[in-house]
Amino acid sequence: MKETDKLLLSNKAWANERRLVDPNFFGRLVNQQRPHFLWIGCSDSRVPVSQITGTDPGEVFVHRNIANLVIASDLNLLSVLQYAVEVLEVTHIIVCGHYGCGGVQAAMAKRSYGPLNRWLRDIKEVYRRHRDEIDALPLEARADRLTELNVRDQVDNLIKTSIIQHAWKDRKGPWIHGWIYSLTDGILKELLAVPPGSPIDPIFAFDFDFDE
Ligand code: CO
Repeated sequence: MKETDKLLLSNKAWANERRLVDPNFFGRLVNQQRPHFLWIGCSDSRVPVSQITGTDPGEVFVHRNIANLVIASDLNLLSVLQYAVEVLEVTHIIVCGHYGCGGVQAAMAKRSYGPLNRWLRDIKEVYRRHRDEIDALPLEARADRLTELNVRDQVDNLIKTSIIQHAWKDRKGPWIHGWIYSLTDGILKELLAVPPGSPIDPIFAFDFDFDE
């Protein structure tokens, strides 16, 4: 049996069970998705959003990349964000990091990874911005703290986008949350929650009436 056959078999079993429990399950999902949440998480296989949050298909719109970064020039992230905020009108965005993140650890190390270096550089920038605080900690605590600070910085990066600022002005949403997942006990915790309309650093604030 091929390694991938197991996945296809499990999928059949899952779909059959779903139909048995709820005959309309797939019928309801075919016509539309109205998720209330956008999840921006790490690609790490140990942080599967549906399983750890107990959510069903249709409940969470998802974007994942290495170390859950929000980069202003990332067309993939921006497209997901725009669709989630402007079309799906999600009410909550969750940026979720996790302790033991390989991306964060790699960014703190000296090894060169080729093209991945460019991606890791944005985490190095987070480190640089918070160097004093991180370097004051014992060695073993530094990666965890950088992981938390990284989540906070990515929440800030979301607020700097015109997509979020426009939605806050237009429809008083969405909330933006920063969460951390622990691989050791499977528990999510909230680091911060930013309500719509929160203060924005003036240099990053857009004036949407400017052209009118
Ligand atoms: Co990770």
